[in-house]
Amino acid sequence: MPASQTSSRIAVIPGDGIGTEVVAVARQVLGAVSARHDLTLTYTELDWSCRRHLSEGAMMPADGLETLAGHDAILLGAVGWPGVADHVSLWGLLIPIRRAFRQYVNLRPIRVFDGVESPLRAARAGEVDFVVVRENVEGEYSEVGGRVNRGFPDEQAIQESIFTRAGVSRIADYAFELAATRRGQVTSATKSNGIVHTMPFWDEVVAERAAAHPGVRLESEHIDALAAKFVLQPQRFDVVVASNLFGDILSDLAAAVAGSIGIAPSANLDPTGTYPSMFEPVHGSAPDIAGTGVANPVGAVWSAALMLEHLGHQRAAADVVAAIGSTLADPATRTADLGGTAKTEQVCEALLALI
Ligand code: NAI
Ligand code: MG
Repeated sequence: MPASQTSSRIAVIPGDGIGTEVVAVARQVLGAVSARHDLTLTYTELDWSCRRHLSEGAMMPADGLETLAGHDAILLGAVGWPGVADHVSLWGLLIPIRRAFRQYVNLRPIRVFDGVESPLRAARAGEVDFVVVRENVEGEYSEVGGRVNRGFPDEQAIQESIFTRAGVSRIADYAFELAATRRGQVTSATKSNGIVHTMPFWDEVVAERAAAHPGVRLESEHIDALAAKFVLQPQRFDVVVASNLFGDILSDLAAAVAGSIGIAPSANLDPTGTYPSMFEPVHGSAPDIAGTGVANPVGAVWSAALMLEHLGHQRAAADVVAAIGSTLADPATRTADLGGTAKTEQVCEALLALI
């Protein structure tokens, strides 16, 4: 992680739909917390979105990645809008950013907050607090493969998985280092009984890296059993490390355990600090509620807190997370997705008052 610095350049991509509404709140919260902690954050606001695609034919300009490279971090709302196919918005912006900037960690903290009811009886506030660390650039989501004999009875599709020693080592190292700052427990998702080449390799490399982190405990669980344990005993996890596909599925399951997609944050990290990392709520642009002022801004605000943490501003980040906890605990400042009646604006005002 980059050393603490008092001035950071942030590229802001609000995107589409409620992305613009929740990022506006995150910006105000960042403004308040920066004033309090004497941080200088400068912002470049970028209108890259499906709106731009519809008017100019691309989600971002041809030199978009170069523009972003001049920043310390990227804060993103969400992209996606009817009229632009979802794979176009994803592959035209998010995937190129994740891959060009080698954001090989996808980090998803999961916490059951006081006042947010989990659909699980076993998931009580204060007890469920873990992080899913997903490998974000290789594994099952590779571009290697193809289709042959299209339309004939002998048509075939082949999709190769790519697991590299470097790729598995660095994601395992990230998970062990994170666990060392938390409760010291890493759970590795595997399926070495069914997937007989890549998953035993994953297990071997993860175990090797575990040996280099003697203070941390490692357990391996098959992905199917692990999915069941997320539901039955979510409080037993600290850091869960998984390949791209397994981590994708587990992190959505975990977000559901926490009670609402509206509060879930994520970070796409290049832990080496060579490239900017990107911070975004887990939710999408929610066209069904866009423009009505009811979007829950917590996912975006918590993502902004992860950004502060990555930039080395741990105390400022902790203030933001504490303010989130207070607004969620108060029924008057819960949005409709959490069974409340508060508007986005009211949550924003409450967060600003707390900070
Ligand atoms: P979505 O997350 O936008 O919405 C799913 C449901 O959750 C909707 O009913 C929505 O109203 C609700 N919801 C989501 N966020 C909320 C919030 N902050 N507060 C209150 N309610 C919230 O997922 P959906 O509908 O599958 O996708 C809509 C568009 O967003 C699509 O174009 C999709 O491709 C895009 N998308 C973009 C993502 C990104 O930019 N990272 C991630 C997921 C979807
Ligand atoms: Mg997903």
